[in-house]
Amino acid sequence: MIRLHEVTTVEREVGECFRYLADFSTAEQWDPGVYRAEKRTPGPPAPGTKFALTLSAGGRRIPMTYQLEELVPNELIALTGDGEGFSARDRITLESPFPGRTRIAYEAVLAFSGAAGRAEPLFRPWLKGVGRKAVEGMTRALTLGTAPSRGPLDNLGHRLVLPAAWSFTERGYLAMPDKGLSEFIDDRIWVITGPTSGLGLATGCLLARLGARLLLVGRGGDRLREAAATIDAFSGCGRERIQCFEAELSLARECRRVAAEIAAAQPAIDGLVNNAGALFAERGETEEGHERALAINLVAPWVLTRELLPAMRRRGARVINVVSGGMYLQPLRLDDMQFRVGRYDGSVAYARAKRALVAVTEHWAETTPDVDFYSMHPGWAATPGVARSLPAFDRRMRRWLRDSRMGADTIAWLATTAALAGHSGEFWFDRKPRPTAVVPGTAVDARQRAELVTWLEAAQARAS
Ligand SMILES: NC(=O)c1ccc[n+]([C@@H]2O[C@H](COP(=O)([O-])OP(=O)(O)OC[C@H]3O[C@@H](n4cnc5c(N)ncnc54)[C@H](OP(=O)(O)O)[C@@H]3O)[C@@H](O)[C@H]2O)c1
Repeated sequence: MIRLHEVTTVEREVGECFRYLADFSTAEQWDPGVYRAEKRTPGPPAPGTKFALTLSAGGRRIPMTYQLEELVPNELIALTGDGEGFSARDRITLESPFPGRTRIAYEAVLAFSGAAGRAEPLFRPWLKGVGRKAVEGMTRALTLGTAPSRGPLDNLGHRLVLPAAWSFTERGYLAMPDKGLSEFIDDRIWVITGPTSGLGLATGCLLARLGARLLLVGRGGDRLREAAATIDAFSGCGRERIQCFEAELSLARECRRVAAEIAAAQPAIDGLVNNAGALFAERGETEEGHERALAINLVAPWVLTRELLPAMRRRGARVINVVSGGMYLQPLRLDDMQFRVGRYDGSVAYARAKRALVAVTEHWAETTPDVDFYSMHPGWAATPGVARSLPAFDRRMRRWLRDSRMGADTIAWLATTAALAGHSGEFWFDRKPRPTAVVPGTAVDARQRAELVTWLEAAQARAS
């Protein structure tokens, strides 16, 4: 039997620490020994709630289940765990010496049987190290972030596109030192487009767990309701905190209609995640005459944002535009916005539209100082969208790809991190601002940005 005992003190209210840790699936954010953790029982954590963990040890993935045994608000979280040949009893004890500070004691008693039991003395020191790193991670996850910085190595990494591409895989995410998402945004109202699968769904789950109310905008009433149920089960937020709005977002007039519906239902919103996006193998046009990739990846976020801005005048309101690292390879093509010239290439059309959305993000940041705007790249994540639109890439790369939650991490982090003053307009990847152009000839200057905005204004006017 091995007993691990570590103590830490964090500058947070005890209620927030308890709330974060009681959902033990957050262990994937603070315990480096946990590769993945899922809450298997829908609803808020309570005695009996089960969690499935995948531990990461010596390059091996080891499954384990945990069950919450006891929860005493702001005082105790007790769990039992089982894996093949071992079991665990974990107790997280909290106390608050004074408001704003919490002392956390983490005790784990591990028992081994069979071959693992015989080898126990060999891995005892290693396990002690694992326990210490878990509590260090817990401390970081519960420490409120300071303003992020862009180091010279980060810039260099992005200037060399190949190493940056490596960091787009799961490895890049796993190498991030801080993965905690513990800044609660209780009752803030966030609009998420494309929440029915992939990154949008994962974003909804993460934001709802942090207390947000959600307005989901997408296609198909049943699929939206399914997404709402998934988010509720994941977060325990309560289904009544999620509203669904149906819209075919590749049509500007639908974007306007749904924006008006949202503003009527919620006159003050705190944020918008323009996540819905798609890549098409063949060129096609919407009934409004826009090339399809341009319509969903650029015109839709433009129109939705523009229409929702009047409802976003609350202090600290944010817009997050989900773009793609693919834009690094493409310039803005103001001369051929609809991709009429040359042979159509879906990846190029998609990347051009995302490049334009990055430029539009910078434009809004300059012209709308009372709202913060960010564009972000999620890395390469295995989502239904990637499997459908890039099947060969998906097959070849699948074992290296992030999962949706890893891809959504920076979206949730941008939506919840308070200390982002002065960063409006920037492009983010893995919680750091990055350069927007690394390939010669792809940077967008102020004149091109202005022309792009004129083009978008005209496109919007035509659709009204
Ligand atoms: N996964 C990656 O590796 C990756 C990398 C870089 C950037 N991104 C970006 O991340 C975002 C999410 O992508 P994903 O990988 O999560 O893809 P996904 O699984 O296909 O999800 C895309 C979401 O957008 C919705 N959507 C697409 N077209 C729509 C339309 N015309 N009207 C309304 N909703 C529409 C989809 O709804 P339907 O199911 O109804 O189509 C779905 O909910 C996209 O902007 C994508 O460009 C992803």
